[in-house]
Amino acid sequence: MNIDELKSVAGAIVAKRKGLLAADESNPTIRKRFDSIQLESTEENRRRYRELLFTADGIERYISGVILFDETLRQSAGDGAPFVKLLSDRGIIPGIKVDKGAKALALYPVDKVTEGLDGLRERLAEYKQLGAKFAKWRAVIQIDRHDAPSAYAMRANAHALARYAALCQEADIVPIVEPEVLMDGDHTIDRCEAVTSQMLENLFAELDAHRVAFEGMLLKPNMVVAGKKCADQPGVQHVAKASIRCLRRHVPAAVPGVVFLSGGQSPEDATDHLNTMNAMGPHPWEISFSYARALQTPVLAAWEGRESNVAAAQNTFFNRCRLNGLAREGKYSREMETAL
Ligand code: 13P
Repeated sequence: MNIDELKSVAGAIVAKRKGLLAADESNPTIRKRFDSIQLESTEENRRRYRELLFTADGIERYISGVILFDETLRQSAGDGAPFVKLLSDRGIIPGIKVDKGAKALALYPVDKVTEGLDGLRERLAEYKQLGAKFAKWRAVIQIDRHDAPSAYAMRANAHALARYAALCQEADIVPIVEPEVLMDGDHTIDRCEAVTSQMLENLFAELDAHRVAFEGMLLKPNMVVAGKKCADQPGVQHVAKASIRCLRRHVPAAVPGVVFLSGGQSPEDATDHLNTMNAMGPHPWEISFSYARALQTPVLAAWEGRESNVAAAQNTFFNRCRLNGLAREGKYSREMETAL
């Protein structure tokens, strides 16, 4: 393990004003996103869409890296430039999603466990050769009214995340460790905080046991929010305070950065929450973003799959990146949304 290389890549990902674009939707997920604009999910349409994102003017000021899906890592722009080279030439670090998805956990009806450890060492070696400098693995924790998540599911997912993270560091690839407590359901923000706390506690114990160097990894957690169907929706300050409190209790200061997922929040809420957390700083870690939906939903709506809308969609994307860049410094305000 080359800890200096790991630290340097992790530090570059959470550089001032910058964060990650998660564009690593698996084919079933991107099909759902394309359904929303009535676009068929062909390999060529997926390639055209990712090219639109990766070639948008000026995004390198706010986007430090992009998480890619296996198919995308091997694709090229229309002019023949491989995406990995196109991104690297712009100073944007390419990364790769390496998990194989969340599957039903046997004998636990609601819980899931993420698969993909078999053969991971060999896959990481290939991804490293193809130019990936960091990786992502997502565990999914579902809150349910009765007995989910079980303590066992949290332990199993924490263990898998730690095995993945150790394999990444062995290959000199920065692991982005993502334990996502889902927003689905009607649970309160307090329940989300309790479950997120328990998950992070399990996670850091496993990472430590697996000898993962905290200095050479990044954490990608959910924010502490109420379930989407909860009648009592907390305000921005409440979410920011609860999220920071939860992190302070469970995330070692040696971790260089926390890159939040957006998890189904509106783009405006995701930016506002990020801004408010940064305004409450300084914190022991950089507080940044690794958004998929909160960056891409307005872009897809502007694009609609049409060539004639590419410039407008890229402009929409740039603006979303810029606002999140401002939120990294606590300099965003909601009024900026209407000023666009
Ligand atoms: P969202 O920002 O849409 O939650 O996606 C982030 C991600 O990469 C989930 O794994």
